[in-house]
Amino acid sequence: MKDRLTLELVTPFNLAEYTKLQHMIMSQPDRYRSFGAWSTFAVEAKDDWNTVRFLVTREGAANVGIAWIVRIHQDDKAELGLALIPEYRGKGLGKIVGRLLLRQSFDSLGCQKVESFALGCNPASAKMQKGGMRLEGTQVRSVKVSGVFYDRFWFGLTREEWIAQIANRPAKLDAVG
Ligand SMILES: CC(C)(COP(=O)(O)OP(=O)(O)OC[C@H]1O[C@@H](n2cnc3c(N)ncnc32)[C@H](O)[C@@H]1OP(=O)(O)O)[C@@H](O)C(=O)NCCC(=O)NCCS
Repeated sequence: MKDRLTLELVTPFNLAEYTKLQHMIMSQPDRYRSFGAWSTFAVEAKDDWNTVRFLVTREGAANVGIAWIVRIHQDDKAELGLALIPEYRGKGLGKIVGRLLLRQSFDSLGCQKVESFALGCNPASAKMQKGGMRLEGTQVRSVKVSGVFYDRFWFGLTREEWIAQIANRPAKLDAVG
């Protein structure tokens, strides 16, 4: 799939669309396998200045998901998250959105460090993050999902590593993220 993806900042003007997609994703029965304890987070987008929220939009088509950057430690560090609507998963879009979130965190927000995690029961998330970030550590049998304990993998990237990635990246790939 070659579609161009964009991260559209969530403002009061498109908050209803973000909330609609969030409901769609978080009301799925398997959501707990993706997010663990996060699956209980409020389905309303809060007025929360530490979290920058985005609609993931696809050129000339319906929105495909949501993404967010939680800014911590006086904004120098960020934690990333994203969730696509089921029909758009497994088509390579997650990798592009992950890339866009990294670019936004380092280039627009000026972060020094970015982190995110994936649960052992969510191979798509783990593989996607491994593609753009470095595995920093594993919390063994850390999260209980449907009665089974799974490992939690933490991924990270420093600003220096990001700059090195950009330097080695073909220009045409940067056009999509
Ligand atoms: C996790 C998520 C964002 C990944 O996006 P995606 O578009 O489905 O993933 P991609 O198609 O870009 O694939 C990324 C990698 O995962 C692999 N993959 C995709 N779906 C997979 C699956 N169901 N099982 C195993 N591997 C899978 C792909 O082959 C690819 O591997 P590669 O880098 O070796 O080529 C998406 O599946 C999603 O929104 N899931 C629900 C919400 C969620 O889990 N969010 C993350 C919470 S931490």
